[in-house]
Amino acid sequence: MNSDNDLQIAGDILEVPHLLQPPREHPATVAEFVGLARAITADRSQWAHLVRYDATTRWYHRLRTGPGYEVWLLSWVPGQGSGLHDHGRSSGVLTVLEGTLTERTERGTRALAAGAQRVFAPGYVHEVVNDALEPAVSLHVYYPGLTAMPMHTSPHCEARTEPRAVTA
Ligand SMILES: [Fe+2]
Repeated sequence: MNSDNDLQIAGDILEVPHLLQPPREHPATVAEFVGLARAITADRSQWAHLVRYDATTRWYHRLRTGPGYEVWLLSWVPGQGSGLHDHGRSSGVLTVLEGTLTERTERGTRALAAGAQRVFAPGYVHEVVNDALEPAVSLHVYYPGLTAMPMHTSPHCEARTEPRAVTA
């Protein structure tokens, strides 16, 4: 406790409900979207049995939708990658559930081990690839839901305009 601060709650905080934020059914802030992703990550019963691996194409599954957002589950066998892309109008939270993914941007490369999270704003350009020897699983929350994933040929080139129906 900070001894310079003598503010304390006297009595039962639940007796003053007007001081409490009502719990929200759906996330609405960045922190709440991150929290949703962490809650799903921690509860394997919500996703582990759904995961499939496809060596011919990246596998993805829409796990949940809510007002204005979507949650996708993706798997990556070794060598699979997204290509360089952005996310159109969507913001997102990427969380690695299993394995290790590598994220490449114009600012560099970072390894994302299980539990790692990346939050990105609209227009963020990256490439995600499984450079490891084991499969990986990731969770992606998009707000608003992903409607376009323009591909880029390099971090400095204009995006191509055709949408892709895959997520990353
Ligand atoms: Fe992405």
